[in-house]
Amino acid sequence: MTVEPPLCYLNGEYMALESARISPLDRGFLFGDAVYEVIPVYGGVPFRLDTHLGRLTASLTATRIPAPLDAAGWRAVIDRLVEAEGGGDQTVYLQVSRGAPPNRDHAFPQEAEPTVFAMASPLPDTSALREHGVAVTTADDIRWQRCDIKSVALLANVLLRQDALDRGAQESVLVRDDRVTEGSASNIFLVRGGVLITPELEGGILSGVTRDLILELARAGNRPVECRRVDAEELTGADEIWLTSSTKEVIPVTRLDGRPVGGGTPGPYYRDMRAWFDEYKADYAEGRSA
Ligand SMILES: Cc1ncc(COP(=O)(O)O)c(C=O)c1O
Repeated sequence: MTVEPPLCYLNGEYMALESARISPLDRGFLFGDAVYEVIPVYGGVPFRLDTHLGRLTASLTATRIPAPLDAAGWRAVIDRLVEAEGGGDQTVYLQVSRGAPPNRDHAFPQEAEPTVFAMASPLPDTSALREHGVAVTTADDIRWQRCDIKSVALLANVLLRQDALDRGAQESVLVRDDRVTEGSASNIFLVRGGVLITPELEGGILSGVTRDLILELARAGNRPVECRRVDAEELTGADEIWLTSSTKEVIPVTRLDGRPVGGGTPGPYYRDMRAWFDEYKADYAEGRSA
């Protein structure tokens, strides 16, 4: 049977997104008891898929949700969804919840199959943000202590992102006990005196797939890199600040709490990184890089 796009995958079946239905007893809905991934696709090729699937496995293991598919199974689902949307540049969303048992109870259910959902969507156009930069505001990191798990329980992130928008900015940069952690939906980098600095993973942040790549590209370009505790006051003296994520790639921050960052325009190191990133992306889609 041919299904008209947008197509989605739900519990082993492909169907039109608008006809997909999930039980109100699903634990993802009731408790946020679910994990997810967002994978960019360039030229029809899922970007750094093994790393995304590795992180999904880590999130499933940490939450003790049984893995519903192996890597080959996920790859087949992703390929089918990407193909149905016509290849090219897209983003794929995967979500696995602990399932929909007959009763609402915090305790893990004895018998429930995980609910598995996946869809492909157009990649958001962030070209204007990349060219001109974005404003950010700082905010208290009010989230839980397991931000290394990519959980759908994102209420704090939602409130923090909206707080930034309400203050005329694009993203909240989060600070916990005077140390910078990450953005509400991104990792953060600072440039100071030519050194690229990013908060260490031990600070309780998400191990961003884009963060990893930025570090790799900086090292390949022989630029010094520091992954360490970043004090909040270092933000104000930064020459450049960047945000990274799978859908934003790397974006320059030009205003912090209403004041210009560096010269108030995307900096020279950002321009270099942007060029390296674009080259890597093009090579990846052509199968020329790992
Ligand atoms: C809280 C948080 N940190 C970091 C990131 C960046 O991770 P990635 O580069 O793997 O998309 C995200 C992405 O959504 C996020 O939600």
